[in-house]
Amino acid sequence: MAIYSLGSINIDHIYRVPHHTQPGETLAATDYTRGLGGKGANQSVAAAMAGAKVFHIGAIGRDDAWTLDLLRDYGVDTANIQQIKTATGHAIIQVDPSGENAITLYPGANRQISDAQVARVLANARPDDTLLLQNETSAQFASVRLAADMGLRVLYSPAPFELTPLQDVIPFTTLLAMNEGEAAQMISTFGGLPDCDVIITKGAQGAEWHRLNAQTLTIPAFDVHAVDTTGAGDCFAGTIAAALDAGMDREQALTRAAAAAAIQVTRHGAASAMPSRADVDEFLAPIL
Ligand code: RIB
Repeated sequence: MAIYSLGSINIDHIYRVPHHTQPGETLAATDYTRGLGGKGANQSVAAAMAGAKVFHIGAIGRDDAWTLDLLRDYGVDTANIQQIKTATGHAIIQVDPSGENAITLYPGANRQISDAQVARVLANARPDDTLLLQNETSAQFASVRLAADMGLRVLYSPAPFELTPLQDVIPFTTLLAMNEGEAAQMISTFGGLPDCDVIITKGAQGAEWHRLNAQTLTIPAFDVHAVDTTGAGDCFAGTIAAALDAGMDREQALTRAAAAAAIQVTRHGAASAMPSRADVDEFLAPIL
């Protein structure tokens, strides 16, 4: 089984700041790092680190070997990432002392992925594979339609919250994974949650898995000291994709994804902070 990850790839410029900048303010950062990011790349890395075979579908600038090399180093298959004229996407990320982030995004090449590119890749997929996606690329509609036709599991993280891809993708989604802010926006926009399986992560309140005509599965939060929450949702989505791909049941998958995200927020960075399968095993050992 494998995960096809239609996903953004960004170069993250991460600034640690005493507080988030106010309009008109000039603020000196206390630290700067450049890292691999993009919600899609983060999810691919999280899934690969959790042990899944991950084929990333994406686009980057022609002169960018750096993100490709990093993805490969994390064990992600990069053969289906196109190098094009438009520059690689990038993000300017401020992280305050509480670990909270504020992100400015330049999508760049991520919005140049074509329906044909995705169709060529998915032609190799099998019905027990997973399509993993979020809202930072183009070609979402064609991808989910094709994946659903082929019988793939469609795992969708609707971040950043945007109406158009959401309306297109939801009817084809098998499992929706989102945080409580996104869930609140979804409920106020659509008057409720969709009929597919829905996971809502609730910070200190843990996580819930809603399934139609079944009891909601709830797990408590892990108590950790967060230093940087950038990419935590991506870590959760990538890990749950890998856990389901490996045949784990709902409780095991939810627990591992929550544990992975709990570890991830104790580290600085996005993709570079994703825990390995062994890290998660070690974290859960005293609990299970
Ligand atoms: O979810 C975190 C990610 O959002 C960052 O890595 C940044 O690139 C933006 O896409």
